[in-house]
Amino acid sequence: MDKIAEIKTVCLQEMQNCESLSALQDLKVKYLGKTGELTGLLKSIRELPAEERPTFGAKVNELRNLLEEAFTEKTKQLKALEMQRKLQQEVVDISLTSVPTWGALHPVTLVENKISQLLTSMGFEVLAGPEIETDYYNFQALNIPADHPARDMQDTFYITDSILLRTQTSPMQARLMEQKKPPIKMICPGKVFRSDSDASHSPVFHQIEGLVVDENITLCDLKGTLEYLAANLFGKDTQVRFRPSYFPFTEPSVEVDLTCSNCGGKGCSLCKGTGWIEVLGAGMVNPVVLENCGIDSNKYTGYAFGLGVERIAMIKYGIPDIRLFYENDQRFLKQFVK
Ligand code: PHE
Repeated sequence: MDKIAEIKTVCLQEMQNCESLSALQDLKVKYLGKTGELTGLLKSIRELPAEERPTFGAKVNELRNLLEEAFTEKTKQLKALEMQRKLQQEVVDISLTSVPTWGALHPVTLVENKISQLLTSMGFEVLAGPEIETDYYNFQALNIPADHPARDMQDTFYITDSILLRTQTSPMQARLMEQKKPPIKMICPGKVFRSDSDASHSPVFHQIEGLVVDENITLCDLKGTLEYLAANLFGKDTQVRFRPSYFPFTEPSVEVDLTCSNCGGKGCSLCKGTGWIEVLGAGMVNPVVLENCGIDSNKYTGYAFGLGVERIAMIKYGIPDIRLFYENDQRFLKQFVK
């Protein structure tokens, strides 16, 4: 009888100290399992005088019931505790400390929209092309074969040997001319990517491609279009200058400068003292490219241009460093809120 009382006290005490379900399970086995202490006690009944056996047996069974109930109760408690612990550990902080109170178009978007609007008013249609491009459309279709030195002009992010992040919007020239025959008059605004980074170069920036193909298109049509653009972006006095240049996909090719809107052409830090700012590359579509895309180069001619949107925005707003566009400093961005 003493032994029964002792087991009861010790087991209940140990149960109370139990902190995990697995420890509780071990404890249960220790007392109520096949070779457990209480079971052992029941087996020792044989050693007792016959008349004491029924009372003893009844007492042991009573304790067994009591302990079993206590184990069930304790299991419930521990399960609840473990759930609580889990909930606390997995808590997600959904509080928001600062709420943005304003929103506006980014200066690059403002300028892109403005240029698109000016060109669509002249009858250009707006197209979009893939930012992940094939080597074929980004280079080969544009008369830049593998190993052509002109590839050095554009430090390229390659994804595989034949897939890359487009370095220019010009691949849309080829994509469109393959599908649509003249008259063609399109622009393609979009992001382009080059492995290049300093105050005037960013690994991602925006271009607007322009392409016009029809009968009797000449360099004069290009100049007229660009003069109209420049006058509407920077004012009537802005001058447009063509300098001879080279692109494999245009022939002849030109680099186009505008008089610096910061100093009006006198020379300042923005234009590096020259009075002119280079804004785009352009030229007459190389007949090789027309033929690559299945367009009869004896019948049709075309011009193409590719302008840098950031560059135009930098000139328009007097922004000294291209990186300011991508830092998302609200003090910078707020200046463009109308
Ligand atoms: N794609 C050229 C560049 O990114 C620019 C360009 C476009 C030149 C169209 C000529 C014609 O440098």
